[in-house]
Parts: sequence; C-alpha cells; structure tokens
Amino acid sequence: MRVVSGIQPTGNLHLGNYLGAIKQWVAMQDAMAPENGQGGDDCLFFLADLHALTQPLAAGELADNTVEMAAALLASGIDPARSILFNQARVPAHSELTWILNGTARIGWLNRMTQFKDKAGKNREGASVGLYAYPVLMAADVLVYQATHVPVGEDQKQHLELARDIAAKFNTDFAVHVFTLPAPLVSKAAPRIMSLRDGSAKMSKSDPSEMTRIALTDSDEAIAQKFRKARTDAEPLPSEIAGLAERPEARNLVTIYAALADTSSEAVLAQFGGQGFGAFKPALADLAVSALGPIRDEMKRLLADRAAVGAILEDGAARARALAAPTLLAAQEAVGLQV
Ligand code: ADP
Ligand code: TRP
Repeated sequence: MRVVSGIQPTGNLHLGNYLGAIKQWVAMQDAMAPENGQGGDDCLFFLADLHALTQPLAAGELADNTVEMAAALLASGIDPARSILFNQARVPAHSELTWILNGTARIGWLNRMTQFKDKAGKNREGASVGLYAYPVLMAADVLVYQATHVPVGEDQKQHLELARDIAAKFNTDFAVHVFTLPAPLVSKAAPRIMSLRDGSAKMSKSDPSEMTRIALTDSDEAIAQKFRKARTDAEPLPSEIAGLAERPEARNLVTIYAALADTSSEAVLAQFGGQGFGAFKPALADLAVSALGPIRDEMKRLLADRAAVGAILEDGAARARALAAPTLLAAQEAVGLQV
C-alpha cells in the first residue's frame, strides 16, 4: 500500500481545512504506521504549490502559504519520521512526468472535468492553460510514486478517474507496466463543516466575515466568542439525529463537536440531548480550545523558524526524489526519451 496525497497551500487555514482534510491525513499516517514499521516510505503528503500557480496569486503569497500549510500539517501531527512531507515543486519529476503524460491525456477527457468548468466560470478563454491541464499534473503526482491509495475529497474523485485512464492508456500504448492504477480513498469520516453564520454555506477562507469561521490562528478568546455568537435556533438539542434534519446550524455544531472529540454525532446527542445552546456552546468552545490551542501554539513556534520548516520540507523532497526516479526513468524509456 502506497498512500499519496496533496493539498493546495491556501492561506487563512480554518477549522474546515483541519477537520475535512488535515486530520484525515494524520489518521491515515497513524493507520499505516504499524504495518510498514520501516521508516515510513509509504505515506507521501505534499503541498501542491505547482497546482496553486494555476490561479491568480500575489507575489510572495505562495511561499508564505506553503510554509504556513506545512506548519499546520506538522502541528497537527504529520510526523516527518513516519510520512514524507514536501512541496511538489522541489521534486522535478512531477513536472517532467506531466509533460510526458500530456502526450497521453486526451483533450476530450479534460473537457469533461467539472472542476475546470467551476473554477474557470464564464470566462473560459481567460483561464490559464495550467488550470485546464491541472488534472494531468495531478495524475503525475500520484503515478510517479506508484500510489495505490489516494485520500481525497469527493470533488477530486473525477481527477483520480482521469489518472487511472491516463495510466491505463500509457501502459497499453507502449505495451509496458510502468504505472499502477491508483484508487481514490474518500473518507467517510471527513465532515463538511459549514459557516457559523449560515448552515447552508461551507465554512470558507473566502467568506468576507471572520465570524463565519474558526481560523487555526485564532486565540482562545476568539474561538470562544465565535462559538458563542454562532447562529442557532431556540430549541434544545434533540436526542436523535433525525431531530437535526431541518436544523442545519444545530447540526453543524454537533458535527464539529463530534469531529473534535473523535466520536459520532449520535454519541454527542446522547450526551447533550434536551440541553439548550446555553449549555452546549460553552462545552463546544472548551473542547475546541483544548483541541486547537496546542495546534495554534505549535504552528506559531514552527513559523518563528521558517528555515527549520524549510529543512523538513527539503529532507522530504530528497526522499521523494529518490522514490520518483525509477518510475520517471521507466516512463522516459517507454516513450523513447532515453537514447
Ligand atoms: P475550498 O475547498 O473551499 O476551495 P481549500 O481548497 O482551501 O478550500 O481546501 C483545502 C482542503 O480543505 C480541501 O481538501 C477541502 O476539501 C478541505 N476543506 C475546505 N473547506 C472545508 C469545509 N468547510 N469542510 C470540510 N473540508 C473543507
Ligand atoms: N487537487 C487537489 C485538491 O485541490 C490537491 C492535489 C494536487 C492532490 N495533487 C494531488 C490530491 C494528488 C491528491 C493527489 O484538493
């Protein structure tokens, strides 16, 4: 089993990123550890800085975001002794293999990608070529390591299907077995966290109001205040999940509590059913402070020494380069780039 996944280094990390993505990686790493027991070469996690180039960026922003995301991953429990943590750009094999795979991927396949349609919006002519070719780079990201399992959110499954199509066509066209077909791993445990002010909108870095999200850099006071002011209704919590059906804000707070406590929403309702938000919100705030406070403090400590974070990423990149080399070479040989 070889697990590979990437995350775009976006700034303003929030509780949704932590519970929906980062925490899933840590769980994956921890689940893999007892089996491999030999230095952890079977979990590769990277900051997809090359993918971030496909959308507009301010100068300097990308490097800052990459370091911040790396610090968040480390502070949350990604352990460089058990996982290989690096940024994509420092392993040139990703880019080199992408170009080779551009010869295999079909325009008709890329035309079906829904993320491109969403992100390009109405102004498709004005989108970058990179945004269009994005899924080919993503295929190279996983194929270059012979990934078997790729933890992703639901929205990335289509890209993984494309990676499989590219791998299969390449193997067939050149009559080789260079690539392993990777399978998406969509965690059932990954919750979708909603805005604290609107239970129908996703918690997002781009919401203009800070009160809609818990930032990973928030102070204890800010965390408590945001939960206190979170939108709710006037009813006490139900004892059964069915009672949350028409109550998106209440459901969201229960989801957050369950995710932070590593338990189920059922268990949370068994404990708090019948109680009002006057009791539940402070309990949720205390739990969030105890879970997120140490991560925030560790992030701060790591970010005070950017060079040390850079050194961890560089060490990961060196290990990743060694793992990527044989597959890149085999692909080059298959197409005739090694003379
Ligand atoms: P978005 O999905 O809003 O563009 P990002 O690309 O910054 O956000 O997200 C990085 C990771 O965090 C992705 O894996 C995404 O699925 C996850 N994520 C972002 N927002 C949420 C949320 N509100 N709930 C759960 N997961 C989230
Ligand atoms: N496209 C993914 C996202 O936006 C990030 C990503 C890039 C990725 N390369 C990857 C995920 C390779 C899994 C495997 O979430």
